[in-house]
Amino acid sequence: MYVTMKEILDDANKNYYGVISASVINLELVRGAIRAAQEENAPIIINIGQGQMTKHGDCEIISKIVRTLAGRATIPVALNLDHGKDYERITHAFRHHFSSIMIDASAYSLEENIQRTREVVKLCHSQNVTVEGEIGFIGQAADSDDEKFDLYTRVEDAVLFFKETEVDALAIAVGTAHGKYPANREPKIDFDRIKEIKQATNKPLVLHGGSDSGSDNIRQAVACGINKINVCTDTFVSCKEGLKLMLQETPYIDFMSMMMEMENIAKATIQDYIRISGSSDKASHFR
Ligand code: 13P
Repeated sequence: MYVTMKEILDDANKNYYGVISASVINLELVRGAIRAAQEENAPIIINIGQGQMTKHGDCEIISKIVRTLAGRATIPVALNLDHGKDYERITHAFRHHFSSIMIDASAYSLEENIQRTREVVKLCHSQNVTVEGEIGFIGQAADSDDEKFDLYTRVEDAVLFFKETEVDALAIAVGTAHGKYPANREPKIDFDRIKEIKQATNKPLVLHGGSDSGSDNIRQAVACGINKINVCTDTFVSCKEGLKLMLQETPYIDFMSMMMEMENIAKATIQDYIRISGSSDKASHFR
């Protein structure tokens, strides 16, 4: 079933669970993610970033792949543009039937962020497309951006942002960052802040930088009010490492078998995250 991200996240918000948003760039990753969700009987959000969409995973083609596979699946599947920053890219995804758009104007002042987000909400809501916004600074784990406490999302800003923009979901900076953390340290998530933002807004909240964050941290973040967990790096790294090992062990393996193996590795990684997020068996809520 191809659905909006709002349908998925409203149910997750109402019933206190998290849903995995899996980053993809090709057929194998889309199919791996949807197969994982189907096996777990879980809703799933397929993410493709603005840069990924521009450099490799062509927006129109990815959208057709996702919608075709979603049509064959019995679980809810949404397609979200991740970190949409340029209006041209956002409208491109919109025209190609993405069921959700993230507008990331977090680099601007709160006022400008609100204004830019509002414009996207106006466009998207006219066609029942979900919008995710972001406030605070999430950044890169390699730069220890997760420890920039003064840039965490403030409760009052989250309340104002939801009210002024009418976004459907909000990415908050609460102590995670994108990519692998230095020296394998786990992030220290500000759970109280998640709880406070949830209490003050009662809206779907998004955790970016899910990879390498630790299963207990993710479980606790969900218990405090996170409903969407973005996972990219761990899928990409597990595919790369898996293929490297395969080539070392069986150097004469044919290319198609490698692609099939990559899909299975992506599926296994995403399936683990689905179990941690608490969304297993939740697809039955949508039938
Ligand atoms: P990771 O690469 O750390 O999993 O982050 C993914 C993400 O948040 C995409 O927006």
